[in-house]
Amino acid sequence: MSNTAGSTDTTSLNVESLTVSLGERSYPIFVGDVGFSDPAKLAEGLAPYLKGNQVAIITNETIAPLYLQQVQSALGNRQVDVFQMPDGESYKSLDTYTQVMDFLLEKKHNRSTCLIALGGGVVGDLCGFVAATFQRGVDFIQIPTTLLSQVDSSVGGKTAVNHPAGKNMIGAFYQPLAVFADISVLETLPDREYAAGLAEVVKYGIIYDADFFAWLEANAPALVQREKYALTHIITRSCEVKAAVVSEDEREGGRRAILNYGHTFGHAIEKLLGYGRLLHGEAVSIGMVMAARLSVEFSGLALADSQRIEKLLQQLNLPVTLKGLELNAEAMIDAMGMDKKVVDGELRFVVADQMGSVRVASHVSVSALEKTLAEFC
Ligand code: NAD
Ligand code: GLY
Repeated sequence: MSNTAGSTDTTSLNVESLTVSLGERSYPIFVGDVGFSDPAKLAEGLAPYLKGNQVAIITNETIAPLYLQQVQSALGNRQVDVFQMPDGESYKSLDTYTQVMDFLLEKKHNRSTCLIALGGGVVGDLCGFVAATFQRGVDFIQIPTTLLSQVDSSVGGKTAVNHPAGKNMIGAFYQPLAVFADISVLETLPDREYAAGLAEVVKYGIIYDADFFAWLEANAPALVQREKYALTHIITRSCEVKAAVVSEDEREGGRRAILNYGHTFGHAIEKLLGYGRLLHGEAVSIGMVMAARLSVEFSGLALADSQRIEKLLQQLNLPVTLKGLELNAEAMIDAMGMDKKVVDGELRFVVADQMGSVRVASHVSVSALEKTLAEFC
């Protein structure tokens, strides 16, 4: 580990911990059995981060029946208020944001309150943005319950709601006080949601850690089976990589953009198909294979490594092609903001030089893109 993110093995407690190093805004991430089966353990873990007597849990109608009780029982005699939002990306909106603000004011929460996001990325992003702005900013804790939120959205401080003009158009960089990722909650996650989270895990191997990528290849069957040792390892290593990148470049002035590997293609796919047809991680999976093929042409990635990426994603039950999805290369290029009139436009792609090493390239030509897309459409 670099000094940007320290890892401590606390195996005796069945919990791994690491730190996102951001000066006075540094915070820990706890991974493993953080206490969903033992309220006293969860209470002990949460206590150092609860400074006042008020707590508001933001969750949704799917997660509340499964896990709200466990978190409530760990909060003792504090004033605990629960806001349950409907399930779905469409509720990551200014409308829900306003409803949560009204709720907190009605329940008389003050500046020493602490918000707890109990849910996936939708709940976490919305709760984080409320925390960033309620009374100019209050404490918040992330308790992510999807694999995607445990390895990506709960870490790094991007908070936002959507606007009809685009996803995540209104938001703030605002870091949580701590992240508690309990692997037992992944047992109830639907298969497609689980696989979508694995796409982001594979991304960390490609962009940062070739050994981790090889570990994922060797342990693909255990990952599909959601074996606990495999879950603890992938969540911890993914968070370490994300922590290291975010610690270097919190506000995406440069280096943090590498976390968007595969996402330029992925976002175009989501936009063209209509949000919701493919999950974000599924679109990113196809996008990462496209970015690998582009990298073979553009930045010297070995063809064999591009093929390894495609094979691993397939083994993890993720899509790797656009075939059958009624998309064509021209529409994709338009959706990415590059039409034929824009020669060597400034759209940035994250490309791989070799497994575990990527860079941001701004001079990818339309013809190189057309060549890559022709293999997929
Ligand atoms: P999500 O929050 O919509 O959760 C997916 C589904 O799983 C939902 O139906 C949810 O209710 C359900 N669910 C959650 N936990 C469960 C559990 N343990 N058991 C059973 N069902 C469960 O989706 P997501 O993939 O977690 O997050 C997607 C969101 O994250 C998007 O809004 C995206 O923009 C955002 N995101 C943010 C960042 C960031 O850095 N802030 C990064 C990536 C994605
Ligand atoms: N998910 C990309 C980032 O956090 O920067």
